[in-house]
Amino acid sequence: MKHLIAPSILAANFAHLQHDIEMINQSEADWIHVDIMDGMFVPNISFGFPVVEAVNRYATKPLDVHLMIVDPDRYLKAFANAGASIITVHIEACTHLHRTVQAIKELGCKAGVALNPHTPVSLLEDIIADLDLVLIMSVNPGFGGQKFIHNTYKKIAQVKALADASNPSLYIEVDGGVNLQNTPQLVAAGANALVAGNFVFTSEHPIDTIAQMKAASPVLSA
Ligand code: DX5
Ligand code: ZN
Repeated sequence: MKHLIAPSILAANFAHLQHDIEMINQSEADWIHVDIMDGMFVPNISFGFPVVEAVNRYATKPLDVHLMIVDPDRYLKAFANAGASIITVHIEACTHLHRTVQAIKELGCKAGVALNPHTPVSLLEDIIADLDLVLIMSVNPGFGGQKFIHNTYKKIAQVKALADASNPSLYIEVDGGVNLQNTPQLVAAGANALVAGNFVFTSEHPIDTIAQMKAASPVLSA
């Protein structure tokens, strides 16, 4: 599968959100990544349902909703109603993860589970077969524009090994500090969906930047 690109609108210009959504629509991006932060699970607050609904009104690509919130079960239905196609919850925020994953699927959405940088991949062993997506955080969640954490490559390879054994169609997504420099190595490690916020939106020609990320070929590290 050719890797997917999911620009994160956390780095968009919120005063011109329609413009930025239309840019993504016209680009080779595959999904629109939507970061929801509650000021509890992460030390930052992003935006809520009215903004997600507004994005969905203009978006022609699936909304990939990343919930960085405590007790996400409370809001799954509301995000599905707001237009989410994929709902990803954090493993660190879920006591009954299996139940949460089933609830996401019953809403007709794809179900994802995200892991913070310190959370071991081995925790996914008994849930991976039920998932559509695993999101590996390559920064500590809460803010865009942070530095990529190198241990991520190892974790992607571990997820890929689990997926090859029990869920070959799994999306393996990486989020945080992704750019054109690390894209080839991320794809080589097994990532097949890349989130990019600042790298896309601070570039001079975001549409070209997305096309370059999409066209990048995997390279094996030296
Ligand atoms: C971080 C968010 C990311 C963020 C990525 O908590 O989950 O999706 O928007 O931004 P960049 O690509 O700028 O690191
Ligand atoms: Zn995210």
